Amino acid sequence: MAKQRIVDAQVQRADKRPAGSPLRPRRLSEYVGQRDLIEKLSITLQAVCERGEPMEHILLHGPPGLGKTTVAHLIAVEMGTRAYSASGPALTKAGDLIGTLTRLQQHDVLFIDEIHRLPPAVEEYIYPAMEDFKIDITVDSGRHAKVITMALRPFTLIGATTRAGLLSGALRNRFGISHHLRFYPQEDLVAILRRATEVLAIDEIPISALRVIAARSRGTPRVTLRLLRRVRDFAHVRAGGRIDEQIVGEALALEGVDELGLDELDRSYLRTLGQTYHGGPVGLEAIAATLAEDPGTLEDVVEPYLLQIGFLARTRQGRRLTPAAAKHVRCSPPPPDAEPHRSGESLFGPNSPRPQPAVVARPRPAPIIHGPVES
Ligand SMILES: Nc1ncnc2c1ncn2[C@@H]1O[C@H](COP(=O)(O)OP(=O)(O)OP(=O)(O)O)[C@@H](O)[C@H]1O
Ligand SMILES: [Mg+2]
Repeated sequence: MAKQRIVDAQVQRADKRPAGSPLRPRRLSEYVGQRDLIEKLSITLQAVCERGEPMEHILLHGPPGLGKTTVAHLIAVEMGTRAYSASGPALTKAGDLIGTLTRLQQHDVLFIDEIHRLPPAVEEYIYPAMEDFKIDITVDSGRHAKVITMALRPFTLIGATTRAGLLSGALRNRFGISHHLRFYPQEDLVAILRRATEVLAIDEIPISALRVIAARSRGTPRVTLRLLRRVRDFAHVRAGGRIDEQIVGEALALEGVDELGLDELDRSYLRTLGQTYHGGPVGLEAIAATLAEDPGTLEDVVEPYLLQIGFLARTRQGRRLTPAAAKHVRCSPPPPDAEPHRSGESLFGPNSPRPQPAVVARPRPAPIIHGPVES
């Protein structure tokens, strides 16, 4: 299996395949779904390759697990160049990027995940690199300090984020292509599953069983592939490897995934909103505090799909349960004119940028840049 190498701001030679598991598509043409994005990228790729130019800087945003990292690595594959990965919060100071930026070869890809968490100093450092392919380096200190401008080879920056709203306008405007990845329809997830069953050599799985897995995958390839692996394990141990709709149902019930694809965290969220806050409206921080969860996780991981299936409404007053959701978790829907629940925290609208939540459970990684894949 491909192995990620982690090095301190060192350049690593990447191979020509996208990072990660063998289940990731190998070429852009193998990529299932997100057709508008793939078409847009294919056109630009062909145009820039024929003109000998670097690919445009690209911003990919959308909920987790929809393929942002995969697309970023596929672009490097299509350009015939290398991709280097870094994570926004790990780049704590401008110097963390100098080594990589100066070593990037012509048309290489620099992929920055969670780009909304880049510190402002690093973000400002990137502006001239993106626009004019140059950076300013300060050498010496005190009265001997001087600034040297270094030219970079033309490269492509690909940023990925689950929170495009937190990006500064200045950074967002410097991307030539900006695309929001959407949840996948069921037939695309079935196609992803079919390819995965071939790669994993899972024989004789009826299409009806794949449809059940796809229907419970929250429109997300990462979830669908995870559920397939759990079903495969369950079938291996409990059913002699046989997979049918019934086995899928039993395996997913054991996983706590219901017929809509909601898991225990989704249902706890809905129950908290329905029972503790009588359907809302209520602020995200209050729900997070009640659930002892990180508000960022709820906003990134839980809420997008609930919004998508019409189980949640985000209003200026806060989150509200919809009648369909109230029925699903068996509690009474909120009256249409319910007063917001105040709990001392600010209530914000759907896309309004706001400061990072105070309770952030994510660990802060060390400053690293990694070459994506080892051949
Ligand atoms: N179109 C697709 N076809 C097949 N597999 C896919 C596709 N999109 C994503 N995947 C698979 O789903 C998983 C998640 O994809 P990826 O890591 O690219 O998502 P992401 O958007 O970067 O998620 P995050 O926001 O959590 O970083 C990967 O294992 C990848 O192989
Ligand atoms: Mg990713």
